[in-house]
Amino acid sequence: MKIRAAVLEEFAQPLVVQDVELDGPGPGEVLVRIAACGVCHTDMYTASGADPSGYAPTVLGHEGAGVVEEVGEGVTSLAPGDHVVTLFSPQCRECVHCVSDKTNLCLAIREKQNEGYLPDGTTRLSRAGERLRHFMGTSTFAEATVMPEIALAKVNPDAKLDVVCSLACGATTGIGAALYVAKVEPGSTCVVFGAGLVGLGAVAGCRVAGAERIVAVDLDDDRLEQAKAQGATDTLKGGPGAVEQIVEMTGGFGADYTFEATGNVAVMRQAVESARMGWGLCTIAGVAGKGEVLEVVPRFLITGRRIAGASFGGAKGRDRVPELVDSYLAGDLDLDALITSRISLDQVNDAFAAMDRHEGVRTVITF
Ligand SMILES: NC(=O)c1ccc[n+]([C@@H]2O[C@H](COP(=O)([O-])OP(=O)(O)OC[C@H]3O[C@@H](n4cnc5c(N)ncnc54)[C@H](O)[C@@H]3O)[C@@H](O)[C@H]2O)c1
Ligand SMILES: [Zn+2]
Ligand SMILES: [Zn+2]
Repeated sequence: MKIRAAVLEEFAQPLVVQDVELDGPGPGEVLVRIAACGVCHTDMYTASGADPSGYAPTVLGHEGAGVVEEVGEGVTSLAPGDHVVTLFSPQCRECVHCVSDKTNLCLAIREKQNEGYLPDGTTRLSRAGERLRHFMGTSTFAEATVMPEIALAKVNPDAKLDVVCSLACGATTGIGAALYVAKVEPGSTCVVFGAGLVGLGAVAGCRVAGAERIVAVDLDDDRLEQAKAQGATDTLKGGPGAVEQIVEMTGGFGADYTFEATGNVAVMRQAVESARMGWGLCTIAGVAGKGEVLEVVPRFLITGRRIAGASFGGAKGRDRVPELVDSYLAGDLDLDALITSRISLDQVNDAFAAMDRHEGVRTVITF
């Protein structure tokens, strides 16, 4: 079938929205009609050419939600009409990682997905006979996509797809950092560095977990206001003095849990140093630039601080994303506030520009 899609033709050039050909689903695959897709930093990072593992031409996009239109042979968990959130982080439920409760890094289709192919090593996307690759196994900057069954979370159809698409990446990354990685305990003190979609998700996760105090740290006043709306009890302007201020605010000890959601290695270090001696746990969600390293004085570890990190908030997507959608429907998560603008696919390059200017929290493309 013919679909409209935003193609990364060449690195550091605007995406080109055009008609491309999408083949039907093969065995174990599902054709999804995309209803909405968030525009995430990872899309822009790959488009810029800075990502060493990037490839082109490819259809970008990985924060999608939509409706199943057709299922391939052997697909049993999904049927036409089901509402789904796309997962760049799949869950096969069979590999050694999926059966462990210690990680969400499914091993089933990793290699081919990293190269932009479906699990059988081919693509369903093409243009004038030229194959196009599937970015992150999702390619959701498009009217429709074909994805493996194991990379789709079936969610409650009552939820607005142009809101719960945020759970396909950013929101779950933050919420999960608090709930599944750090496992924040009720009554604790938390500090979240960065109040973009990921950091705001972490603030919400800490609140849902019953944290007593949640300090949001950012450079931007609007973001700090957003953090209050998500449950931050205190806000702090970031910068070189942030650690001292946090230690002071927490009776000289630091926080039980700290979270980093900026991608800046200097801030990561601050997040480590703001964690409490004895048991403070620092969870890193930000993705650092190529070749950058995190500097930590080992004494911080000897004295009982720990550092953790996870992709996609440690969430096993097919299990957790439907639960988070239910929490949203129950009113426990305010995802609506995180979607600050809605655009058409043709405006996708404007969304990148707005992201560069730090405007809004999340822009969602609606179809
Ligand atoms: N681990 C994962 O699976 C995963 C998934 C999605 C995104 N990420 C990463 O998470 C990070 C955050 O993503 P986002 O979409 O929320 O980004 P964002 O750019 O919207 O938010 C980052 C925030 O950090 C703030 N900030 C910058 N410097 C700061 C400083 N010195 N002190 C305090 N705050 C500072 C910015 O003002 C901004 O509000 C990025 O690095 C992104 O690549 C990771
Ligand atoms: Zn993302
Ligand atoms: Zn698996």
